[in-house]
Amino acid sequence: MVKKYLMTPGPTPVPAAVASAQTVDMVSHRGREFHELYQYVTKTLREVVGTSHEVYLLTGSGTSAMEAAVANLTSPGEKALVIRGGHFGNRWADILKEYGVMVRAIDVEWGRAVNPKLVAERLAEDTENETRAVFTTFVDTSTGVVQDVEEIGRIVADKNALLVVDAVSGLGAVDYRMDEWNVDVTLSASQKSFMTPPGIAFMSLSGNAWKVCERAKCPRYYWDLRKCRQFGEKHETPFTPAVATLRALAKALELMMEEGLANIFARHEKMARATRAAVNALALRLFALNPADVLTVIRPPDDIGADELRGHIARTYGVVFGGGQGQLKDRIIRIAHMGAVGPFDIITAVSALEAGLADKGYVFELGVGVGAAEEIIKEM
Ligand SMILES: Cc1ncc(COP(=O)(O)O)c(C=O)c1O
Repeated sequence: MVKKYLMTPGPTPVPAAVASAQTVDMVSHRGREFHELYQYVTKTLREVVGTSHEVYLLTGSGTSAMEAAVANLTSPGEKALVIRGGHFGNRWADILKEYGVMVRAIDVEWGRAVNPKLVAERLAEDTENETRAVFTTFVDTSTGVVQDVEEIGRIVADKNALLVVDAVSGLGAVDYRMDEWNVDVTLSASQKSFMTPPGIAFMSLSGNAWKVCERAKCPRYYWDLRKCRQFGEKHETPFTPAVATLRALAKALELMMEEGLANIFARHEKMARATRAAVNALALRLFALNPADVLTVIRPPDDIGADELRGHIARTYGVVFGGGQGQLKDRIIRIAHMGAVGPFDIITAVSALEAGLADKGYVFELGVGVGAAEEIIKEM
C-alpha cells in the first residue's frame, strides 16, 4: 500500500471532524434544524467574505457560481471587461460569450498579476461608459498568481460598472474584504480553503449588483439569485440543497472560527514561505511572479517532464500534486497548501519532490529543500 497525501489545489484534504459531520441523520431542508444550519453557515461566510450583504448558497461547484454571476448580472449584447491571465480568467470569457455578452479582455501573461493601471486605461478608453462589469479572479489556481483586487476595486468604483470576483481560490486563507475593496460580487466554493468536500458554491452581491440583477435579461432558472434571496429570508434555499455537505461546511467554519481568520492567514503565509524557500533551495523556478499563499507553482528542470515527475511521485510516494492546465499542461507542478495544511504537510511535499527529482536524475544535495522549509517552520 502507498499511503496517499492529497496536495492538489482543490479538492483539498477534509479533516475527520468535517467529513463525519455529513453522516448524521438527514433533516428536511424546510425545517427548523436546517434553518439554524443555514443561518450559521451564511452568517459565518459573511465574516470570511468581509461583507455586510447576505451570502447565498448554491448546489454546485465553483463554476456554477460563475455562471450564476453571468446569468444574473448581464444582458445579451452588453459589454464586459475580463482580466484574463490564466485558465480561470479564460473561463469568465467563455461563459460570458455563451450568454451573448461582448467581451473585451485584458490579456495578462500567465504567471503575472495584472497591472491595475491597465484596468483604468481600458475603462477610460470606453468613453461612452458602456462597460457594465469587470470580471476577475482573486487567485488564479492555474498560475498561482494573486491579483490586487483592492486596487482594482478602487479603479472600478469610479465607473458605472460592477466588479465581479471569482474567489474560489484564496478566500478563507488569504485576507479578502469584499465591502472595503468595493467588490460587487464575490463567489467561492466549498472544496479549497474551506476544507469541505466539493458540492457547494456561494456568493454575495452588493446593493448595486442587486439593482443590476433585477433588470438583467439573460435567461435563468436554477441559478436565479432572486429566488435565493426570496427563500433566504426564511433561511432556506429555493431547491433541495446538499444538506450533508452543508453540515460539513458548518463544521469546517466552526474550526476556522476557532482558529481565527488572522491566524489562518498567518499559517498560510508561513506554509507558502516554507514551500517557496524549499523550491529556491532546490534551484527550481517558481512560476508565479506575484505568488498567492495557497499554492506554489513550480517549473521542473527542463529535461524532466512535469507530468512524468508528478505521476512518478504520486505512484511511488503517494503524494498527489496538481498538474498544469490549458497552455501550462505538462509544464508545471502545483503544490497546494490551502485549507487543512500544517508544517509537516509541507515537509512531506518537499521530501516527496526531492525523492522524485533524485529518481529522475536531477543533481542536488538531498535534504536541501526540506532543510530550507524547516528553517522557516521551526520559528513556529
Ligand atoms: C480560481 C478558480 N475559479 C473557478 C474554479 C472552478 O471551480 P469548480 O471546478 O469548482 O467548478 C476553480 C477550480 O479549481 C478555481 O480554482
